[in-house]
Amino acid sequence: MKEIVIFNGSPRMDGNTATLLNIVAKGVKDNGASVKFYTLFKMKFMACQGCFYCRQHDDCIIKDELREALHKVKTAHAVVIGSPIYMMQMSGPVKNMYDRFFPLTDAQYKPRFGMKKLLTVYSQGFEDPHMFESYFDYTAAIYPSLGFEMIGNIVSTNGNDPESAERNGELKIRAYEAGKSLAR
Ligand SMILES: Cc1cc2nc3c(=O)[nH]c(=O)nc-3n(C[C@H](O)[C@H](O)[C@H](O)COP(=O)(O)O)c2cc1C
Repeated sequence: MKEIVIFNGSPRMDGNTATLLNIVAKGVKDNGASVKFYTLFKMKFMACQGCFYCRQHDDCIIKDELREALHKVKTAHAVVIGSPIYMMQMSGPVKNMYDRFFPLTDAQYKPRFGMKKLLTVYSQGFEDPHMFESYFDYTAAIYPSLGFEMIGNIVSTNGNDPESAERNGELKIRAYEAGKSLAR
């Protein structure tokens, strides 16, 4: 069965990022694939130590919960990364996770484990969904090296209210449809 690995990088367990990721997960499961869901704020993991072990080996030397998640990503059919926008960027744990994804790329910056689909989900306080577009594009530049083929980016706005995604019917449909397409 195809497995989709989902990461929630928000500390708010019932916030907008979680709402949308849960809908993506439903779209995945309703279409015959399985979901492994990681909540970064509930996990114990270290930041990358810059040891460069992964430049010679296809794994991370740090044995913690994020390494287990990294192993899931290696074999996943698709990956979903959700983050709130903090200080105009992804949240700290999500950035630490990306750094720990360094083993996904080899010394020539080619993906070590083939290509898999990637969906990103962001939740921001600002009303304009295009506000951080250049940041999203900038971040996406690393995806091919990691083996991520981006299939979409869902942006939730007015996110200080944790219910705003729940009230946005159009966004919820997009999240469900994205989950469906990840399962394919
Ligand atoms: C420390 C911090 C920094 C933030 N910085 C920004 C920001 O730069 N731009 C923005 O639009 N919203 C910012 N916000 C608002 C969050 O992006 C917003 O509350 C988000 O939608 C929460 O997502 P969640 O409901 O999934 O937790 C910030 C919130 C916090 C706590």
